[in-house]
Parts: sequence; structure tokens; C-alpha cells
Amino acid sequence: MKRLTLSLVTATALFGTTQLMAEDALKVGLMLPASGTYAQLGNAIENGFKLYIEKEGGKLGGRDVEYVKLDDESDPSKATDNINKLIKSDKVDVVVGTVHSGVAAAMAKVAKKTGTLMVVPNAGSKLITGPMCAPNIFRSSFSNWQPGYAMGKVAADKGYKKVVTITWKYGAGEESVGGFKESFEENGGEVVKEMFVPFPNVEFQALLTEIAATKPDAVYTFFAGGGAVKFVKDYKAAGLMNSIPLLGAGFLTDGTLKAQGGDGEGLLTTLHYADSLDNETDKTFRTAYNESFEMKPDVYAVQGYDAAQILSIGLAAVDGDATKTKEIAAAVESAEIDSPRGKFTLSKAHNPIQDIYLREAKGEGNPVISVAAAKLDDPAKGCRM
Ligand code: PHB
Repeated sequence: MKRLTLSLVTATALFGTTQLMAEDALKVGLMLPASGTYAQLGNAIENGFKLYIEKEGGKLGGRDVEYVKLDDESDPSKATDNINKLIKSDKVDVVVGTVHSGVAAAMAKVAKKTGTLMVVPNAGSKLITGPMCAPNIFRSSFSNWQPGYAMGKVAADKGYKKVVTITWKYGAGEESVGGFKESFEENGGEVVKEMFVPFPNVEFQALLTEIAATKPDAVYTFFAGGGAVKFVKDYKAAGLMNSIPLLGAGFLTDGTLKAQGGDGEGLLTTLHYADSLDNETDKTFRTAYNESFEMKPDVYAVQGYDAAQILSIGLAAVDGDATKTKEIAAAVESAEIDSPRGKFTLSKAHNPIQDIYLREAKGEGNPVISVAAAKLDDPAKGCRM
């Protein structure tokens, strides 16, 4: 016992504390939904994240990676307690999360206050890269505004004049519709009605009847996960698919086409990923993902993969010391992220500046039609670093 203590003292004297710390595993808190309408999305993010870490020999910044998993249930009311548990009790070095904008905004508030390194692998909340932006917070995905804004121009170019929007009543839905409305109206269209259902409700019947009666030129929607499957099936069953074109943020048809059983065929959506991109990184990624998980990757898997990639770049610059957030930010801000979606950089607010593709659902995939908005940067209103 005595000898052990002595040798530890000697080791500390010889190598210093940093060296010892680098030998400890880096604790990564994965705060993602494992239940509810977004459960599959959480799973794909985790798969993508782990795939990248495996490619790097199980390490980030030279340190072995250890995971602490927490099911956030996409419940904003539990978010603050959940992230505090990860930081204070589990003592994670890094937090990765989450899917739901309300949960992620609550997490970002805590991460900003405590200075904990955080990467958001999905949630597009404008708060995270707006008023709550911080040197230690990064997003590997998108802002809710980005796909919506790209689709507004597409809809106007198609000659649609009057559009009804329908979505869940919370940040993601409101901001996605907000982005659509902004560019659709800039280009001469008009959003004639905005419809909402409470999250995560999937009772669409009354609103679909109202859409049929309103007879707009098209409908724009944000739904994702289980809700997106139900909405597309209900839209088709209501007989609207052939009479009123349905447009969406790409989450409507990403990872959901199989479960929609063909009802999503032909849908036009806008997103920062697609199934027919012609780049080597995507080809390698898709092959590796298929081999590891026996399924095709979707946008969520890509965002998980890139969350790990962002951490890898940042932590390599500080020998794995996750507390050096200023140096991590400097490294990430000057990097080009080699994503399966195509290369991108992060804005000052730490949101991807990226191409948004127009895609058309075919079978179980969403091949590209065109780039709807090239190198689209989120306005990041209210961000002061
Ligand atoms: C969000 O809450 O920000 C959100 C959730 C699911 C998506 C996209 C955005 O697919």
C-alpha cells in the first residue's frame, strides 16, 4: 500500500498532472432520446458518433473514450436536472446532445454557465447559436431556419402563391415555418394559414380536413421521426397527396420512408444531406455504416459522425484537455469539416455554413435534384461571443 502511494507521488513528480490526466479516459455524456417519437433519431446519432470514434482507434485527443448514456425522453421539463446529473454526478468531460430543441436549449444554458464542452448533434434551436452561443458550444447539424428558408424559394420558383403550413407547436416547428415564410414571402408568395399541433401529438385529421377546404397551392411542413411517418400516411389517406403538393424540411422523409410504406414517394424536401452525393467521404461513411449496423445511414447518423469529428479536431489541439475551450474553439473555427454531406465550416456562432439540397423521395432514398441554397449561413440573431 505504502509503495503504491510512493510510486504515484513519483509518477506525478516525473510526468506532471497533465500527463496523468491524458491517461484517464475522456468521459462523453450522450444525452439523447431512447424513447418516444424521436427514439430512432437518437439511436442513429449514437451510431454515427461511435463509428467515427472507432475509426480513430477509440480515442479523442489521445484519450480513450468512455460513454455515459442518458435517455432525455425529448422532455424539456427534465432537461436541466438531466444535464446537471451528467456534469455533477457522472463528471463527464463533454456533453453530446440532443435531438429536441427545447431540451437542447435547456442543456445549452447549463453548458454555458458551467463552461462544459458541448456539441449539439441535431436540435436546430435558434437560441443555441443565437443568444446562448458560447465558445464551448458547437452544433454539427443545422439551424431550424436553414432547410425552411431554402424551401421557401423553391416553392415560389414553382409558382405557388398561397401556402398553408402545419407543424408541431414548439421551437423547431415554429422556426422551420418561420424560415420558409421569410423566403417564400420575399419571393412573392403568401403563407395564408399557420396550423399547429402540440408536440408530440399525431392527431392530424381535423387539420387535414381544414387544409382540404382551404385549397392552398401547396402545404409546407416540419415533422420528424414517428410523427413524420404518421403525418405522411395520414396526408395520403386523406386523398391530398395528388391534389395539394406536400413540401417539407427533409426530416419528413429522412429515415422514415420505409415505415411510410411508399406513401412518401415523390415528396420534395430540403436538407443538408441526401442519398446520392458524389463524394468519397460519403461513400466510405455509407459502406462502414452499413457494415457496422446493417442499415443505411440517414442525416442523424451523419450529424453524430460529425459531432465526433468536431470534438476530434478540437481535442487534438489541446492534448485531450476538454477544459481548454478557447483553444478548442480556435481549432474548430479554422477547420474544414470533411463531412459525408460535403465539406463545411462553422460560423462564428458555431453553426454549419452548408449547402441545402433539394431532394425527391424515391423508394427508400432521397436523391438530390439540385442545390437549393449554396453555403447557407444562419443569421445567428443575438449571438455575441
Ligand atoms: C428539433 O427539435 O430541433 C428537431 C427535432 C427533430 C428533427 C429536427 C429538429 O428532425
